[in-house]
This record gives sequence, C-alpha cells and structure tokens, in this order.
Amino acid sequence: MNNGNTTREITLTVNGRKRTVTIEVRRTLADFLREDLGLTATHLGCEHGVCGACTVIVDGATERSCTQLAVQADGREVTTVEGLNGPNGELHPVQEALRDHHSFQCGFCTPGFVMAIHGMVEEKKAGRPSPCSRAEIREELSGNICRCTGYQSIIDGAEAALAAGAGKES
Ligand code: FES
Ligand code: FES
Repeated sequence: MNNGNTTREITLTVNGRKRTVTIEVRRTLADFLREDLGLTATHLGCEHGVCGACTVIVDGATERSCTQLAVQADGREVTTVEGLNGPNGELHPVQEALRDHHSFQCGFCTPGFVMAIHGMVEEKKAGRPSPCSRAEIREELSGNICRCTGYQSIIDGAEAALAAGAGKES
C-alpha cells in the first residue's frame, strides 16, 4: 500500500517470524533491522557496501543490508546472526568454529563473517560449488574486512566450519 510514496507497507520474514510493517521507502534494510527490530548484531561499518559488517542472508544468499532498502525485502526471508542461535541461545556451529579458533579480537566484524561463512556452509550442504582450499576461502571472504586479526584465525575458523558443517543442521 502506497502512502504518498514516502512510506509503504511490506511483509517479510525475519529470523522465522513474519512481520508486516509500514516503513519509510528510503530506510535501509540495515537500519530497519537494527533500529526498528532491535537486531543490533548486524553491524554497520562503512555503510556503502565495502566492509561486509552488515552481511545478512536474504532468501538463502548473503547480501549487504546497508546498500539495499528495506522495501526491497518485501516478500523475502531475512536471517541475521540472532536467527542462527538455538532456542536457548546456543551458538551456531559456525560461531563455535570461530570461537574455537579465536577468529576475532574486537569482534566488530564478526557478525558479518559469521553470516558469510554460514552462507558458504549452506552452499556446500546444498551440493553447490563451495570453496575448498584456504586460498579459495580467503577469496570468498575477501568482501569482509577485519582490522584486528590479520585474517589467519578467521580462515582457520572458516576452514573448520566448512569441514564440520556439511553434516550439521543450521
Ligand atoms: S556496513 Fe555494509 S558493507 Fe560496510
Ligand atoms: S576482530 Fe576487530 S575488526 Fe575484526
């Protein structure tokens, strides 16, 4: 429903919960998730599509949430880091792998890496081409920036998640 073209009613599913909201057409998906829904695990770094901190899953694919509008998610299914946790807050296997390999320092970039690696694991589980070597993992994660770790420990965590994740439920 249009209302003078400044707001629009949309229906989308976020972390398994269907929501119908009226929203400013210019509001980004990241701001909608963080400010309207309180899902602040989706971080904002560059806010122009470069750093990957705002990565979420939309209809099964990893996407930047800072460079798309919330209205573009109308009818779609969005998953944030909060949606990966178990019913009692249990960590997702990707989060466990990153924790076990000390894949973060300040942690600002971590939600974006979790979602990017989760996307890779899901691709592998679906039998689609997915990175195997460390070089391929590094290439796949090249759209996510970390200022702290030097990346080695992140690649370690991603490698472990990919090795272990194919047989696990997300
Ligand atoms: S905040 Fe979206 S890519 Fe940097
Ligand atoms: S752990 Fe600090 S930016 Fe990656």
